[in-house]
Amino acid sequence: MGDTIPGENPRPFEGGEEMTYQTRILKPGEYAWAALLIRQGQCVAFPTETVYGLGANALDSSAVKKVFLAKGRPADNPLIVHCHDLEQVDEVVGPWPKEVQILMDAFWPGPLTLVLQKRPVIPSAVTGSLTTVAVRIPNHPIALDLIRTANLPIAAPSANTSGRPSPTRAEHVWQDMAGKIPAIIDGGPTGWGLESTVLDCTVSPFRLLRPGGTTLEQLTEYVSVETSSDHELTGTPPSPGMKYKHYSPDAQVILVAGNNIQETVQEQIIRFNKLGLKVAVMAFTETMSSYTGTCVLEMGSNKDLHGVAAKIYHLLRETDKLGCDLVLIEGLPERELGAAIMNRLSKAASGRIIYS
Ligand code: TXA
Ligand code: MG
Repeated sequence: MGDTIPGENPRPFEGGEEMTYQTRILKPGEYAWAALLIRQGQCVAFPTETVYGLGANALDSSAVKKVFLAKGRPADNPLIVHCHDLEQVDEVVGPWPKEVQILMDAFWPGPLTLVLQKRPVIPSAVTGSLTTVAVRIPNHPIALDLIRTANLPIAAPSANTSGRPSPTRAEHVWQDMAGKIPAIIDGGPTGWGLESTVLDCTVSPFRLLRPGGTTLEQLTEYVSVETSSDHELTGTPPSPGMKYKHYSPDAQVILVAGNNIQETVQEQIIRFNKLGLKVAVMAFTETMSSYTGTCVLEMGSNKDLHGVAAKIYHLLRETDKLGCDLVLIEGLPERELGAAIMNRLSKAASGRIIYS
């Protein structure tokens, strides 16, 4: 995975406006190093149960600004603050109602982010100047050890360059962040492979801002939730992240949904092959053998949504390695985890969806 410098104290190189680091890959057991870097105001990439995060001290605006710089992230797109227990959550957000406590008890630690009223201790750099802050307790031993050892809440977006697919392996973080941050903790592939669900708990009913690992069906067992599709939104998006390009590989992506997916995908393969384009298809195990004249990447069984979720960002990055011009992706029903998968795939396609 490229050059690592075990045992050497990581230090930025001198000179120039640009941040240049000799990025170290740390083993899971070296999280104490990473905690020290966080305490020194540096950024560190670390695994969570969803995707890799790019973390910094959530109480230090100059540390947080380094996260925005390394990612090339617009300053108005706020970060999620990661805590290791409820006591720490209480330090960053104001008192929460009973319904929120019910969700915390049911889904934390886990892939659910709650938007709540922030306390003044959280600088506006974290929240893009909003008065609310997104917070979650991740369900990953390395993430929890890191936060506990740093003894600080850690602000962390996904550790990809803005607009690129989120990283689900340390090597993905390396592809985007080598030279831009001092260290990456390699905890192997992440379990979920998709980001957390973001739920705004400052409005009534609570509002789903981003579908994710915790499904709408699970949430509505406990509280009522309003959903809004991106197309319905007018004016200011409730979640600033909604308005930005997302999850895109170098190739153009077309998502094919509906009842006639295989025929439609095959027609598109023929059409684009004629134009001399290099095409790849991301297909399910059940249907992948139906395509000819193209490279097929297997997303896993359409009956195993967890398996599919865990693979999609990796496969989107693989299409870059293959040098594809166009990627056709089979869609699936927007139920349970399928809603989050389709949300990410339609964003990767920048809304280019064929309903077959
Ligand atoms: O699983 C995850 O959530 C990962 C891991 C690292 O925890 N993090 C992640 O962060 O996906 P990020 O920055 O890529 O996405 C956070 C989303 C963005 O869409 C952002 O706009 C939204 O949460 N968000 C953050 N704070 C918010 C706030 N105060 N109000 C509304 N939306 C907010
Ligand atoms: Mg992200």
